[in-house]
Amino acid sequence: MEFTLKLSAPATEKTGVVIVAQSGTELSAAARALDTATDGQLSRTLKTAGFEGKPGQSQLLLGLHGIAAEGVLVVGTGDLKDLDSRGLQRAATTAVKALANGPKKAASFLAELPVAKTTLNDRLADITRASAEAGYRFDEFKSKKNCNKGLSHLTLAIDDKTQLTAGKKAVAWGEALANGINTARTLGNLPPNICHPSYVAEQARALGKSNERSLKVEVLGESEMKKLGMGAFMAVSQGSDQEGKLIVMEYKGGKKNAAPVVLVGKGITFDTGGISLKPGAGMDEMKYDMCGAASVLGVMTALVESGLPINVVGVMACAENMPSGRATRPGDIVTTMSGQTVEILNTDAEGRLVLCDALTYVGRFKPAVVIDIATLTGACVVALGKVVSGLFSPADDLANALLEAGQQSGDRAWRMPVLQDYQDMIDSPFADIANIGNAPNAGAITAACFLARFTKDYTWAHLDIAGTAWHSGAQKGSTGRPVPLLMQYLKNRTI
Ligand code: BES
Ligand code: MN
Ligand code: ZN
Repeated sequence: MEFTLKLSAPATEKTGVVIVAQSGTELSAAARALDTATDGQLSRTLKTAGFEGKPGQSQLLLGLHGIAAEGVLVVGTGDLKDLDSRGLQRAATTAVKALANGPKKAASFLAELPVAKTTLNDRLADITRASAEAGYRFDEFKSKKNCNKGLSHLTLAIDDKTQLTAGKKAVAWGEALANGINTARTLGNLPPNICHPSYVAEQARALGKSNERSLKVEVLGESEMKKLGMGAFMAVSQGSDQEGKLIVMEYKGGKKNAAPVVLVGKGITFDTGGISLKPGAGMDEMKYDMCGAASVLGVMTALVESGLPINVVGVMACAENMPSGRATRPGDIVTTMSGQTVEILNTDAEGRLVLCDALTYVGRFKPAVVIDIATLTGACVVALGKVVSGLFSPADDLANALLEAGQQSGDRAWRMPVLQDYQDMIDSPFADIANIGNAPNAGAITAACFLARFTKDYTWAHLDIAGTAWHSGAQKGSTGRPVPLLMQYLKNRTI
């Protein structure tokens, strides 16, 4: 979808369909202007249709007299006093979905809406991002494509010409963010026979190639990882015919010597559980077990596109967790890159095994902070459902900054404990650490506690996105979370 920011008035705007809002019973300023121009036809028609202005509702009005556009789409936002940034995004989403089979072009006047704690630029970025997300389709594998359907161009209308320059930057930010989100979604949605570790590496290399000045990409294969002593990573990867890859992307947007933010994503391109095999029902969803890595690639995509002035290292720890004659057995003991030994009691707790070696590896970047992102535990879904991501960090400042970024971007997280008191649950009688605790007790926490033993040298946080990375059921598909949270956090660091 293409976006243009423009100075415009609702009644004279000629572009296809004009998008305005009704908040409960109250028309927005742009909707009132249209109502005046149509001699009250707009409000009468809405009344006849019984339109209530609730979130998620929309009404398309065609053939109104007195205005230049072909049609008007009125979207509901619910009461203005409750309207927040997520509500505005929802209104933008509702509009794009309502026009999915209609005109190619529309002009949105939603940025005028008063939303608590936002500037005009925040709203422009929110509308752009949500519209681009709503226009996303994944039909690569359908023989009949939908790609010619729906909006291809959205004009964002404002009424103050002094806001145009800053507004264009806000729209560009929204676009970069949406491209990052949609990149992550596509990588997640791709089937696991195509999206294996080498495929992910190729995507990273391609991004590096088209952004040679700002992004450096390096890919470590299994022989390099063996040399580095990554016995835990190898324990997961060795059961698969696909070679595991540690993909390292360095984005240099900040000062030359400024310490980078390091992001480490779990990239299990398919998680069968290994010898501790998962049950069959719903196992296809374990193609999404690389969504942490996908979110890292999404962030790098949004960074190169936005040119955010910050240094960020993105690492994707990619492997396939398969049962085979070479696979790890429950009871195997391996030595991690840190030197600590791990007794692998359950081969299905593989995420922490690939992550612990990646987390040791990134110490070499002398990071300002390290954030790992992982579809790590079913226990996190039990605890938090699919609404918020689990946030684990011993560092209050980092945790609070991430929570705040989640609120601002509408991509929320909730803090969970990583207390020392849980650590003895992952002690092993035979090795330094066991890879599972006393399941199912505190499963998300003991997983975080495992990672905590490998992150003592820097400030660290862990996001468990097992519940938030994808939707199941009729709406099955990757969400692109937590790209919005991470980009907001990185942006906040530059202000
Ligand atoms: N990838 C899964 C976690 C997961 C499960 C995410 C379901 C989303 C939905 C992870 O590798 C895993 O299998 N974890 C186990 C850990 C257990 C063996 C301690 C789990 O959560 O059951
Ligand atoms: Mn698993
Ligand atoms: Zn997994």
